[in-house]
Amino acid sequence: MRIDVVSIFPDYLSALDLSLIGKARASGLLRFDVHDLRDFTTDRHRTVDDTPYGGGAGMVMKAEPWAQALTAVLDAGDTAAAEAAPPVLVIPSPAGEVFRQATAHELAAADHLVFACGRYEGIDERVAEWAEERFTVRPMSIGDYVLNGGEVATLAMVEAIVRLIPGVIGNPGSLTEESHADGLLEYPMYTKPASWRGRDVPEVLLSGDHGRIARWRREQQLARTADRRPDLLPPAGP
Ligand code: ADE
Repeated sequence: MRIDVVSIFPDYLSALDLSLIGKARASGLLRFDVHDLRDFTTDRHRTVDDTPYGGGAGMVMKAEPWAQALTAVLDAGDTAAAEAAPPVLVIPSPAGEVFRQATAHELAAADHLVFACGRYEGIDERVAEWAEERFTVRPMSIGDYVLNGGEVATLAMVEAIVRLIPGVIGNPGSLTEESHADGLLEYPMYTKPASWRGRDVPEVLLSGDHGRIARWRREQQLARTADRRPDLLPPAGP
């Protein structure tokens, strides 16, 4: 998979060199490039923003540097592959569709993802319209709160996506047993010692009875989901 990120703060993304993503890059499963939006400006001050039409607080990112940057990313890519399946342009925004585990799976199947990290009050709306001709455009929110820009949201989405690429995680079983894999929160986990500061590991986990353990874990998943995230439970039948 190929991932490009465009940002005015490319250093933000360097955290992705650590750990899993760094290994995926080193092993050749992932090509990951970060581009500085200011390299695509033409004025002396490398201006990327301007005041909003219609008035209001804050600044809006100008369209032309984005068109230049995204065109450069496309030109550097595999044009035959892009014609067969257009790259996905993810625009992090609190006004986007909510990014979920199912979205991570969908995006993990793409050949080429491009993340456009806006700052200030966002990017001139015409960029998304223009990009529709070249990309599949997905405005995405990571939750109902407002960040200062798209970089932190991109870090979260890239990590969630890349760990699903086959070969990136050493033990793929861990992907099927974690929270959200089956629409529920995961069951509680314990490790040695069996008794710690007066708290014992649930007896069933020491029983060696795999059927009982599986049933107990399922009950825990349901109870925990009902308690913490009742919105995830399927509606009760008639
Ligand atoms: N940019 C600012 N807030 C955001 C959010 N909640 N999700 C994605 N991008 C954002």
